[in-house]
Amino acid sequence: MAKITIPFVDLAGQFRNLEGELTQAFIDTGRSGIYIMGDRLESFEDKAAKYCGVDHAIGVGHGSDALFLILKALDIGPGDEIITATNSFIASAWVIAATGATPVLVDVAEDFNIEPTLIEDAITAQTKAVIPVHLTGRPARMNEINCIAQRNELYVIEDAAQAIGARYHGSRVGSLGLAAGFSLHPLKNLGVYGDGGLITTNDNKLASKIRTLRNHGLRNRDECEVWGFNSRLDSMQAAFAEIKLGHLDIWNERCREIAALYRADLGKVVEVPFDKEWEECVYHNFVIRTEKRDELMTYLLEHGVDTRIHYPIPIHLQDAARDLGYKMGNFPKAEKYAKTMVSLPIYPDLRDDQVTYITQLVNSFFNVLGEK
Ligand SMILES: Cc1ncc(COP(=O)(O)O)c(C=O)c1O
Repeated sequence: MAKITIPFVDLAGQFRNLEGELTQAFIDTGRSGIYIMGDRLESFEDKAAKYCGVDHAIGVGHGSDALFLILKALDIGPGDEIITATNSFIASAWVIAATGATPVLVDVAEDFNIEPTLIEDAITAQTKAVIPVHLTGRPARMNEINCIAQRNELYVIEDAAQAIGARYHGSRVGSLGLAAGFSLHPLKNLGVYGDGGLITTNDNKLASKIRTLRNHGLRNRDECEVWGFNSRLDSMQAAFAEIKLGHLDIWNERCREIAALYRADLGKVVEVPFDKEWEECVYHNFVIRTEKRDELMTYLLEHGVDTRIHYPIPIHLQDAARDLGYKMGNFPKAEKYAKTMVSLPIYPDLRDDQVTYITQLVNSFFNVLGEK
């Protein structure tokens, strides 16, 4: 096996570029003596709210808690059903199960996001909410989803874990439903140095309830209003996140540039993702599709290029989902994509010559196949 020359991600490289700024934030926060809640968290929350174009942003422990706390604040629990996409990271579904509600899964479209025309078939008298996932950094078809939700009196909660900065008809994700959950996991487009998450909403009452829930259910230092949780973005991570938020648009733009390079050079040999005129994907992942997926991954690895699959097992086929009663064949698109998709390296520090190296490899793989 060749040495990896192009890793799938390069978090240490990004850290090195920001080392001065981050170190100063570490020192300033350390010297402030305030490590939980406080000014640094508030400052990041204010900037994140402005960035997403909403009234409230609330820092929490991680992206899963962001979704979980929204559901808890909406009193979702046993007996309720919540709809989400089967092609997603498992957290999109386990947070539903963790409230005691039932995850109801729906197949996806060519853009890997929930297919809105299938949502209505999944709605029952128990359905309370739909959680569209903006997978790979691409906004789900929110206009259609919001219309269906309105007709059926459902909450719409965006799983924006992978999509901070993406736009849909000019608006940022996080402002497209009742509330949204973001992940600040290190691998995300805005990642911190540990776990982190963010909730956005324009709903004052919901925001206030979530702020109480994330902080032990406390009304103030001594009075507890409701049974709560401990899930706050800590001051150090908030300070790091604020620094990185200042770079996010440039980073996202670079990922969009890389996506355009991949698209231009690979469109003839594999299925490539593209943007519709009303959307601006931030390419958390660049996912191509080919029937020769496994052979292509092996070939790329032999030439030093690391790739991943997002996700090889759709949620409905996971062991954890056994109780939900789904089986192979229920969601043909997601099942087909699970076998044919592969994510190529994409991150702001990836150089043009590295992108060219990857596209040449992919093309040479298919040329050799064609000659056989
Ligand atoms: C689509 C999706 N939803 C939810 C999550 C959960 O975020 P976290 O890992 O920060 O809990 C993730 C991140 O891994 C994700 O990709």
